Amino acid sequence: MLTQEKNDRLTRVGPDTEMGQYLRRYWHPIAGESEFDNQAIKPIRILGEDLVLYKDLSGNYGLVERHCPHRSADMSYGYVEQTGIRCSYHGWQFNLAGECIHQPYEQVCDPTARMCKMTKIIAYKVQAKAGLLWAYMGSDPVPELPDWDLFNYKNGFAQAIFAELPCNWFQCQENSIDPIHFEWTHNNWTIRQAETDEPYVATHIKTKFEEFEYGFTYKRLREGESEDNPMWTEGRVTLWPNGFYLGHHFEWRVPIDDYNTLSVLWVFSKVPKEQEPYVQEKIPSWYGPLYDESGKWITTHVANQDFAVWVGQGRITNREREFLGQSDRGIIMLRKRFFKELDELKNNPDFIPKALIFNPEKNKDIYLPSACSKELKEGLPRGQLAAHPLLGPYLNDFIGQAGQPKEVREAYEKAVGQKMSGAKFFSVHGGNKKSA
Ligand code: FES
Ligand SMILES: [Fe+2]
Repeated sequence: MLTQEKNDRLTRVGPDTEMGQYLRRYWHPIAGESEFDNQAIKPIRILGEDLVLYKDLSGNYGLVERHCPHRSADMSYGYVEQTGIRCSYHGWQFNLAGECIHQPYEQVCDPTARMCKMTKIIAYKVQAKAGLLWAYMGSDPVPELPDWDLFNYKNGFAQAIFAELPCNWFQCQENSIDPIHFEWTHNNWTIRQAETDEPYVATHIKTKFEEFEYGFTYKRLREGESEDNPMWTEGRVTLWPNGFYLGHHFEWRVPIDDYNTLSVLWVFSKVPKEQEPYVQEKIPSWYGPLYDESGKWITTHVANQDFAVWVGQGRITNREREFLGQSDRGIIMLRKRFFKELDELKNNPDFIPKALIFNPEKNKDIYLPSACSKELKEGLPRGQLAAHPLLGPYLNDFIGQAGQPKEVREAYEKAVGQKMSGAKFFSVHGGNKKSA
């Protein structure tokens, strides 16, 4: 259990909080690039700050505070220019760095533009990468935006999927180091929802958690599996500070504020060897629904199953009442590391937080342990891809998150060269049957 005070240290993310300052030292994915195909401006809330994300007429992305520094008009109703964004109330214009570059009437009255030079709007850096828009809201020095090797794999179809969840980010991230939940939240819950009398999948018998440069790895072994199983030899990565890497996809839990989280999935599906060479022209992004027509949480897809359990833990889960066991060893390690980092940040002005990369030479194609990197890099013929325990289910249906738009599904089907069967029941994440 954690005291309320400690819980607050982990969960509060506003600009004046310890965790808020800590998380501002990292780049965070905040939107999909394709969202700006048909709009130039999007209001957005990240880390407790109301902001406006925009694409100017030169194609550059900017992120500024929501309210104009003149008399607080809403910048999301502004309009973009060749450089930056202009407020729709009195026309003040701001560049990507937030400097005021035009104050129409003030400059008529005082052509030296002294007032203009003194005016700034809060502005943060934005970079586009892998179809995502990433924001950096911290102080200098600005770290590199990590170049994870999965972003550079060839012959695959990537997509970015978002959802806004009404709960705190930290309980979402604790799920990134919680292997046992796969068995119960994904495998067995799916079986029970199918209302069959199928037995539960093989149970876990061993877990292992280790820290490394970019986070933690966890490994798991189930009944009947041998120790050369990739889930035991490679496992999965709890990506520091708020990500999860599963070989064929990433997940990030980006705090909107203390009570809401932007869930970001980035999924890479290899096309069958027969479809190579395949070059994806554009990475689509989409937002999935959380509820069905009756208002109940959707629980058919992997991410939706996670969402239901995280939100069910409470808006900010009460860690005074929890009862941690052996399955939570990773969670305890994760919290300890965060507390250590927060202490360092408070006490040492020169402290460099964990996993940040500053050397551009180092930031190339960074490898993260993965249970399926060989297959994803080299590719598999259609039959073998379909039979692959981790990658195969994606040929039948998009099991990642509910609500995939028709056009994304069609683009994927074209890429892989087959129709998805829309399978209702699936075996996810290596959930081998007991009898296997
Ligand atoms: S309020 Fe924005 S220019 Fe006046
Ligand atoms: Fe999960």
